Amino acid sequence: MMARWAGKVAVITGVSSGIGEEITKALVIEGVKVVGLARRLQRLQDLSKKVNTADFFPIECDVRNEEQIIKAFQCVEKKFGGVDILVNNAGALHVCSLIDTPTKEYCRIIDTNVIAPAICAREASKSMRKRNVGGHIVNINSIAGHFAHALHTPIGMYGVSKYGVTAMSAELRHEMIAENLKIKVTSVSPGLVNTEMTEEFIEEESRKTILQPKDIAGAVMYALGTPEHVEIAEVTVIPHGIPIEGPFKTTRSYTIW
Ligand SMILES: NC(=O)c1ccc[n+]([C@@H]2O[C@H](COP(=O)([O-])OP(=O)(O)OC[C@H]3O[C@@H](n4cnc5c(N)ncnc54)[C@H](OP(=O)(O)O)[C@@H]3O)[C@@H](O)[C@H]2O)c1
Repeated sequence: MMARWAGKVAVITGVSSGIGEEITKALVIEGVKVVGLARRLQRLQDLSKKVNTADFFPIECDVRNEEQIIKAFQCVEKKFGGVDILVNNAGALHVCSLIDTPTKEYCRIIDTNVIAPAICAREASKSMRKRNVGGHIVNINSIAGHFAHALHTPIGMYGVSKYGVTAMSAELRHEMIAENLKIKVTSVSPGLVNTEMTEEFIEEESRKTILQPKDIAGAVMYALGTPEHVEIAEVTVIPHGIPIEGPFKTTRSYTIW
């Protein structure tokens, strides 16, 4: 079912590492033109070499800067005529408690994890609506966006931001229905994934036993590949067989994300 996306255009944020990088690879294999956004230019150039295709178009972009996001979407409009798939993947994590964190840090997390995806969703929807295409918006959420009571761990503004992503996904879906738009919205909520984001918390020997970025790319491909009448609203992906206390370096019970 991925064949219908061949030749279409995807904008993915945060492609310079981890989950975003794997989603990029999976989509270009299916013949999708991927416009990949991130701040680290060198990493984007490295990914260009890895995917080895004319279908990857990196753009240096800080998603905390609205002007840069708008410019990136204008670029897509000019070069390809519009966007068909948006994957809001870029995310920031800072494990610190709300009561000990300065406001500036609250803003960094909320700007990256909530405001930027909202801006991207708005800009992508504009483009999809104008052409009345069957588009898809995928928000990379987290289990931290659903199960705070069960996590028993202080993750401060990160959990708050991911609950925002849960609400945003539902709101966007309501709006698509209300406006009679053919745009699907999917929230993908991973548990622990072996990426740079979790590097400092996970024991080396456990890194292979938690989720890998490819597992999450697989969930995204599943949602994208559904027939027209099927919409995957939420996919929760957790590592199988991880002990309840988690594979963490610290003795504190961090059952994060
Ligand atoms: N790893 C996990 O266990 C886990 C679990 C659940 C959910 N998630 C979610 O999965 C998503 C991807 O994270 P990951 O695990 O793949 O981590 P990662 O390897 O650290 O990747 C994060 C990506 O986000 C980009 N990014 C961060 N801030 C940005 C900004 N201001 N502007 C543009 N790009 C920015 C980074 O690119 P630059 O630094 O180059 O800009 C990088 O490409 C995030 O939304 C995260 O919350 C992760």
